[in-house]
This record gives sequence, C-alpha cells and structure tokens, in this order.
Amino acid sequence: MEYSVIILAAGQGKRMYSALPKVLHKIAGKPILAHMISAAKAIAKDNVYVVYGHGGEQVREQLQAEKVHWVLQEELLGTGHAVLQVLPLIPDDHQILTLVGDCPLIKQQTLQNVLKQTCNNSIGVVTADFPNPHGLGRIIRDAENNVTNIVEERDATAEQQKICEINSGIITAPAKLLKEWLPQLKNHNAQEEYYLTDIIAMAAANQHPIHAVKAQKHYEVHGINTRKQLAELERFYQLEQAENFMLQGVTLADPNRFDVRGDVEIGQDTEVDINVIFSGKVRVGKNCRIGPNCELKDVSIADNVEIKANCILDDAIIGNACVIGPYARVRPGTELADEVKLGNFVEIKKTRIAEKSKVPHLSYIGDAIIGREVNVGAGTITCNYDGVNKRQTIIEDGAFIGSDTQLIAPVTIGKNAYIGSGATISKDAPADKLTICKKQQVVVEDWQPPKK
Ligand code: UD1
Ligand code: CA
Repeated sequence: MEYSVIILAAGQGKRMYSALPKVLHKIAGKPILAHMISAAKAIAKDNVYVVYGHGGEQVREQLQAEKVHWVLQEELLGTGHAVLQVLPLIPDDHQILTLVGDCPLIKQQTLQNVLKQTCNNSIGVVTADFPNPHGLGRIIRDAENNVTNIVEERDATAEQQKICEINSGIITAPAKLLKEWLPQLKNHNAQEEYYLTDIIAMAAANQHPIHAVKAQKHYEVHGINTRKQLAELERFYQLEQAENFMLQGVTLADPNRFDVRGDVEIGQDTEVDINVIFSGKVRVGKNCRIGPNCELKDVSIADNVEIKANCILDDAIIGNACVIGPYARVRPGTELADEVKLGNFVEIKKTRIAEKSKVPHLSYIGDAIIGREVNVGAGTITCNYDGVNKRQTIIEDGAFIGSDTQLIAPVTIGKNAYIGSGATISKDAPADKLTICKKQQVVVEDWQPPKK
C-alpha cells in the first residue's frame, strides 16, 4: 500500500501567547513540527504534506531544509477543511494518515500499529485513556464496543463528557473515501468548523470498519496548547532519553536533570552529573566523567575523559584521558590529543594540542598549534588578533611557557624552549634556550601613601 501523510499545522496556537507559531516552539531543541515531519517521513518519505496557515511563511522558512509539500489553508475552517485542501494532490489509491501538528512524541510503533490494523476500506484512529480528558474529542462506542463517532468536548452531552477515551487526532483512511466524505462535511457544531472527526460517523453509517488503536504511552498523544504542556512534554521526552542511556550502561546522577537536544551517544560506565546539556551531534566514549553544569555541543570525546564542573565545549575533538575544567571554555576548532590537561578558567579556540601538554590555569589560547609535553603557565595569553587579522602561535614539543606570558602572533616558540615569567614575546624564541624579557624592578624611596 502507498501512503501519504498529512500534518495539520495551520492553527495559531493562541494559548502559547507567542509571536512564534506554535509548531516552531521546540522540544529537545528541535521545532515541534520538525519532530512531526521526521515521524511522517519514516512512513511516506516523498509524500508528506504540511498544511500551514497563520505565520506560515515563518514556518516554511525555518523548515525549508525539510523535503515536504507545503499546502496553504487560507482560512482556518477546521481540521476537515484542512485535509480537504490536500486531497487533490493525493492519488485515489493512497492510504492517508493525518497527524495533528502538535504531538511530537508520537512513536513510530504506534503509527505502524494503526496502519497495520487498517486495511482496505477501513478507518483507523489512535486513541488513549486520559484521566482528565477535558477539551479533547471523545470516542463513542456502541453496545458491541464498536467505535461509532467522535464528539468534541463542546458538542458532547454531559454523559459523553464522562468518557475518558480520547481522540489523539491521528486518523488514517483511504484517500478515495476521504475524497467522497470530506466535501460532505457540515459545520453545524459549537465551533462552526468542518471537523475531520465527523468522518467516523460517516464510516460507521456506511459499514466501514473503524479500528481504534491505543497509544502505548499517554505522552505520545499529548497535544501542546500551552507552555506548561510544552515543558511537561519536554520532561517526558528527556526522561525517556535518560532511561535509554541508563539501560545502555550510563550512570546519571539524576535522570530529571539531564537534557539531550540532538543526536547523542554515550559509552558504557560513563558518569554524567546533574544539569548537563548535550546538543547537536555528541559522542562520548566509555568510562568518562562529566561534572555538573556542563554544556557539550557538537563534540567528540574519547574514553576515560574527565570534564569537571561548569565547562562549555563546542565543536571540538577531545582525546583519550584528557582532563578539562572546572570552568573551561573549549571553542570551535579545538583538537586535543590524548592526556591533555586544560585547567580552570582556560578559554581555547581553533587550537591543536598534542599528547600530554597542559594549560592548567587562566589562559586564552587561540589559533595555536601546541606540541607534546608543553607546559603553558598560568595567565598565558596568545595575542592572536591585531584588530583585523587572526594570526597563529606555534609552540613546539617540550617547551615551557612561564606564567603571565603574552605571545604576540605570529610567533613560534622552539622545541624545549623556556620562556621566563612575565615575558611579552613578539619574535620567535629559539629551541633549547631561555628567553626572558627584562623589566627592571624599581623601588621608589620617597613614595608616600595616599591621604584622604
Ligand atoms: C482536535 C480534534 C480532537 C482531538 C484533538 C487532539 C477535531 C475536530 N478535533 O481538537 O478530537 O481530541 O485534536 O489534540 O479534529 N488545524 C488546521 N486547520 C484548521 C484547524 C486546525 O491545520 O482549520 C490543525 C491545528 O494546527 C492542529 C490540529 O489541526 O495542529 C488540531 O487542531 P486543534 O484546533 O488543536 O483541534 P483540537 O480542538 O485540539
Ligand atoms: Ca489541539
């Protein structure tokens, strides 16, 4: 069977109180609609249709990399009307799956289940039992437990409102039948909208089987209408990620204070302390320790690495058994070989450091190449920027840079060179030699302390 998926995303999301369309708010760092598109593409790679409306240009612009068909619904006349806008683009023999635009945690398994159970000429709907179903469409069943209708909260009788089985908004039906039924929809209801859900009663009246498939987890079908619900869903998502990592052998100090916003792999026996944020593409090896309050973005970390508290790493490659932090900022283009140590209050950018070198305290190292077993003393600064151009500093193997040194790039420090403390090095320092900058110490004999 060929599938087409329609994502309904034209609503305004009024209750978000936001200039941003609802579907662009993020779960796990990714727009809600992008989650929906990923789920849809797994089913119908080339046949995903997104119905957009209010703020639509902004939505299209932000998600322009997604290969989907955008369909404009000029007036928001209801979910049935929204689907109707897409029907002319879909061949009659396709099975259509419609998704509401705001349930980003829907699982592929649930979608596959409803599609599998809904064969020729039948209708499928994903439902869930909610202890508090307020505001949602209710599933109406007859005495034989067959689904016969979906009634919206506002149109429901007091008796119907007691029903806890709700419509997730995820419905599948053959294109051919939708093409027959949707033009017949009436908007004789409390909201004066054309409801997609009214096709259930039409199907029942025409003896088409209706399969209700339950979502496995309630949060799969939790819509997002408010920022509170957005935050709740974020936590469900994060807890699920946390549980998966723990099952794979990662120790988390607190699964409630763990955030993954991207594509992340973490090796066995790695320990992650509280409030660590992983974003983008992150690889962490085995047996590492990540301290509290760190942000790791697009970084690859080998095994046995220790990252102490409050570090930020962005677009970097970290070798085996490195020790970083606390309070280190590792910026894009940094590559550390094995057993490199970056200490506290070190900022490093676009720099390669070879094995066993150390930058232990209070330094800025930018645009540099540092050899093996180099020691960069406390307070060393590469002066890499002249206001216009960035220039390179090279420190060769075994060199020792005394504390409080300024290296005015471009400059090279030779192999095993020794730079005396407090130097301002603007010319290359030769290998195997001590280079110092003499500054005289003067005692002012007639000095008087300041008076009030
Ligand atoms: C809808 C369902 C309800 C279900 C609930 C689940 C209908 C009539 N009701 O109600 O049974 O329990 O979802 O969350 O289908 N949209 C458009 N164009 C429109 C109207 C809506 O694209 O003209 C989109 C919205 O952007 C949203 C989705 O359709 O993504 C659902 O619309 P919404 O207004 O949120 O419907 P609910 O009242 O929540
Ligand atoms: Ca909704």
